[in-house]
Amino acid sequence: MPAYLSTYGRVMDLMPEIILILEKNGRIIDWNRQAGEMFGLRRGDKLATIDRLVAPGQPDEVLRSLSMAQVVPSEEVRVVRSDGGVLDMRYEIKPLHGPKGEVRVLIGRDITLDKQKELDLLRFSNVIQHTINPIQITDASGRMVYVNPAFERASGYTREELLGQNPRMLSSGKHAREFWGGVWKHINSGKLWTGRVENRRKDGAPFHTELVISPIMDAGGKVVGFLGAHRDITEQIILEQQLVRSQRMESIGTLAAGIAHEVGNPLTAISSLVQVLQRTVQDPFATEKLGLINSQINRIAKIIRDLVDFSRPSTHVSKPTDLNQILNDALNIVKYGKKVKDVTFSLDLDGQLPAIRIVPDQIVQVFINVLMNAVDALEGRPGTITVSSRSAESVIDIAVSDTGKGIPSGEVDKIFEPFYTTKGVGRGTGLGLWVSYGIVKSFNGDILVESIPGEGSLFTIRLPRNT
Ligand SMILES: Nc1ncnc2c1ncn2[C@@H]1O[C@H](COP(=O)(O)OP(=O)(O)OP(=O)(O)O)[C@@H](O)[C@H]1O
Ligand SMILES: [Mg+2]
Repeated sequence: MPAYLSTYGRVMDLMPEIILILEKNGRIIDWNRQAGEMFGLRRGDKLATIDRLVAPGQPDEVLRSLSMAQVVPSEEVRVVRSDGGVLDMRYEIKPLHGPKGEVRVLIGRDITLDKQKELDLLRFSNVIQHTINPIQITDASGRMVYVNPAFERASGYTREELLGQNPRMLSSGKHAREFWGGVWKHINSGKLWTGRVENRRKDGAPFHTELVISPIMDAGGKVVGFLGAHRDITEQIILEQQLVRSQRMESIGTLAAGIAHEVGNPLTAISSLVQVLQRTVQDPFATEKLGLINSQINRIAKIIRDLVDFSRPSTHVSKPTDLNQILNDALNIVKYGKKVKDVTFSLDLDGQLPAIRIVPDQIVQVFINVLMNAVDALEGRPGTITVSSRSAESVIDIAVSDTGKGIPSGEVDKIFEPFYTTKGVGRGTGLGLWVSYGIVKSFNGDILVESIPGEGSLFTIRLPRNT
């Protein structure tokens, strides 16, 4: 029995590690049972050298240091078992002084499984890093410990700002306290939760997601954290809201057509009777009052015309039109108004605008409405109205921005509703935008609004190029 391992019998055989005793030239002169079985070493096989065990394709320097049994603190190498299987081994080589001089001891550990796990983890984290789905992981107390780049993009916050915080920081305030209470109770009991949530981005914009929260459990079944995987449905929600809005507009349109018809006919009758009376009556008092009646009738008639415009399919013919030309026509009309003397109009028109098929009379009305609103928003104070046209791949955007009073964020949705006005009686009917929206929609376009109260508003009239 070789002297090195004899003192306590084959104590080394009880160790889980692979132990090889090497000469300085790499020859294997003894081993424990683990190593013997793994590499199929036999006692008579005096010529076995360490490099025979190494799998092909290993780095040269590792091979060299191994074959010279150099002392190393910690290294990795891939070795081949006697049954042909390949395993990853982490090892160290230490010097040992024995009766016949110095030898080297290699102590190795099979790390194949660890490596596999490491690789799995790497793959997993790569998937999470690159998926388009926003993902967050919290600890058991609900503090975020991981967020992926998609989550940073969706929320507008950086990793640094998010980690350590409770997901509550993204709360939109749209869900009641009981809602989140219920969610926490559910997931804390180890169950999966799925639902739609509305969050708020750093810039204040809403971001809607479909969220799956799954508890992360340790081997003992204890909840140690939560995985929240989102699917961004903001786009979808916006489309849904637009659909609801245009459906609502449609039903209001039908109603308006009915009213316009029912009110319009008697109004025409009244109007002609008034005109008959005006021509025949001599009494100055009566004449004056008839004049007042007439102007009030005209006011109603204008409203009726707007209602009809909105609801009646256009009888005008559409033709290829240069929107810049229409914009100029609208500006010329608006600039004649009394209120524009302190207004600076700034123009930024795209000279390459392609002509599109629309009804010029209708679109000019839209531009006039939006421009008049911009003038009104300045409320007589000096200010600037910027008008621009831009052509993109599939749409043309006409943007009108003003430096006026702006629209409170809660009101932006309402401004397209009929009869919504913030202007005094007789100064606005609240039909301008409603009519404009109806017209633009009939060309499959859209009107987009951005506004900052106290700073101004931007109205973008978007028309598709292929009408
Ligand atoms: N550029 C703007 N800046 C601020 N508020 C605006 C702007 N454009 C529209 N609004 C708001 O939207 C409301 C509705 O506009 P809309 O054009 O539909 O009706 P109106 O201008 O009040 O009346 P009219 O029927 O005469 O146009 C306005 O009363 C105003 O409160
Ligand atoms: Mg208006």
